[in-house]
Amino acid sequence: MLRTHTCGELNKSFVNQSVTLCGWIDTIRDLGQGKFIVLRDRYGTTQIVTNPKSSQEVLETADLLKSEYVVQATGTVSERPSGQENSEMSTGEIELVVTDLQILNKSKLPPFLPNQRELPNEDLRLKHRYLDLRRPQMQKTMFSRSLITKSIRDYFERNDFIDIETPILGRSTPEGARDYLVPSRIQNGSFYALPQSPQIYKQIMMIAGYDRYVQIARCFRDEDLRADRQPEFTQLDMEMSFVDADDVIGMIDGLMKHLAKNILGMDLKLPLPRMTYDEAMTRFGHDAPDLRFGMEIVDCTDLAAKSDFRVFKSVADAGNFVRAINAKGGAAKYSRKGIDQLTKFVQEDFGAKGLAWFRVEEDGTLFSPIAKNFGPELLEEFKQRMAGEPGDLFLFVADTWEVSCKSLYGLRKQLGVELELYDPNDMNFSWIVEFPMFAYDEEEDRWDAMHHPFTAPRDEDLEFLGSDPGRARAKAYDLVINGYEAGGGTIRIHDSKTQSHVFGLLGLNEATARERFGFLLDALQYGAPPHGGIALGIDRIVMLFNNLDNIRDCITFPKTQRATDLMTDAPNAVDDVQLGELGIEIAKQEVARS
Ligand code: AMO
Ligand code: AMP
Repeated sequence: MLRTHTCGELNKSFVNQSVTLCGWIDTIRDLGQGKFIVLRDRYGTTQIVTNPKSSQEVLETADLLKSEYVVQATGTVSERPSGQENSEMSTGEIELVVTDLQILNKSKLPPFLPNQRELPNEDLRLKHRYLDLRRPQMQKTMFSRSLITKSIRDYFERNDFIDIETPILGRSTPEGARDYLVPSRIQNGSFYALPQSPQIYKQIMMIAGYDRYVQIARCFRDEDLRADRQPEFTQLDMEMSFVDADDVIGMIDGLMKHLAKNILGMDLKLPLPRMTYDEAMTRFGHDAPDLRFGMEIVDCTDLAAKSDFRVFKSVADAGNFVRAINAKGGAAKYSRKGIDQLTKFVQEDFGAKGLAWFRVEEDGTLFSPIAKNFGPELLEEFKQRMAGEPGDLFLFVADTWEVSCKSLYGLRKQLGVELELYDPNDMNFSWIVEFPMFAYDEEEDRWDAMHHPFTAPRDEDLEFLGSDPGRARAKAYDLVINGYEAGGGTIRIHDSKTQSHVFGLLGLNEATARERFGFLLDALQYGAPPHGGIALGIDRIVMLFNNLDNIRDCITFPKTQRATDLMTDAPNAVDDVQLGELGIEIAKQEVARS
């Protein structure tokens, strides 16, 4: 070993001991009399000092030191002079008076320093990820991630789950994103698809009798990237046999309690609350609502129908919706200009036609440019319905169900932040249940699976599969944390007849269904047990448990918005020999790449 201790462990109890530390140069202060050098490793930082009594060799080496040099320092642990202690450092009571100093490696001048106050530009961070990963915040997140995965493994082991790996090179899986394909050299013209999830394999493991499977699995989806989406991400994937939805939810409830305790020291009360999909859409306009604050959507369609305001009336008469949120105390925060910006936001981002508003004045009356279209009694009814108090601002969207949901959800989310309606350190866990089986795809004129095509309908809704698929609800459940979908799962169809029926509704004829999922249909005919499971996004869980807002900060080597890795420069062009072996010719070379 090149060191006797780490940079995070020395304190007063080590005084007068001779120790050797290794690490990176974090900062150097030259006080004329000697140098104060902060040495950093993954465990912390320690101050090492030279003084006029230091050997010539030590002083000369100290003069050569620069940021991020790697050094080995031997010396005597001393108590810091009174008044010079640093309570922010775990080693702040001591310093190392150096007797031997060796440079183990030099460093070029880094494009940014791990200890700099402002966050470096993200492209630079990604290009020099090794420097970025030296930043204490990144190290904290990575240690937290490691503790989270360890806690997950411990929990599932305690609950009799078996950890199983499934292939990365496989067939297309059904999560609905675009596949990443891998060309086969041995079978020119054929491709493997990287798994979008281990969904089919885990179902087959149930059929094979491996009740209680778990896997921390890498998944690949070629889809548009956002702050909470990466092309390559990690799922906690699990599946159980002989269970219903309550059993799977209960198992994950237990996991969340275990994680909340282990990671945050927080006592979570179980069972976690549940809300149906319909209720979530009605109250919050979204299936992953942030329940850390109220400001729920209020339906005023019946009142709007009684007004003379052309927009409201025509929307209500057409069977659409006039819904609103009450931004409590928002009148002072949003001037006309502010409201114009909110109007632009719902128009541009969600296709709303406008945003009508009312302000509750100090005397309790409602003010709005459109107020003249409402009699005083009707205004009072609006105020009652909206639970309005002086200083409140009501924001109305009159539109189809979908547009009103999206717009009011977007407004609620933004206003929640701007009006500081919740404590950002709060954690809120809940389940959304009873999702629809299908969503109608207008463009394609067919039903799409809301979750995936192996999801079982609720027993009482089986009859709607044939007559009214839009009404059928699924045995599906999503875990929502602070307004993010953290996980989703379902009870599966376990008989091939219902499975074929659902494939049919999804527009997969028998031949296509056989071609894509024949092996599963076959397996279902050999004694498939009732089964179900769930997958949680580990990157998102790490993000949420660390109060971050981007999963790129929770992944060691993430991809950019354009799905590139700036450090390795992947994806990259390959030479013609390799392409030839794969039987592939590039039709058009893309010139502009970044
Ligand atoms: P689903 O597609 O809902 O379900 O995915 C489960 C969870 O994985 C996370 N997730 C992602 N995280 C980061 N980047 C992405 N691109 C991304 N896509 C999904 C989310 C999501 O809730 N096979 C089913 C699970 C099952 O039915 O058991 C599935 O994959 O947190
Ligand atoms: P107009 O009658 O178009 O001048 O609109 C009067 C007010 O109603 C403006 O504040 C618009 O933003 C708002 N408005 C227009 N259409 C809608 C709508 N569909 N929903 C809510 N407000 C609307």
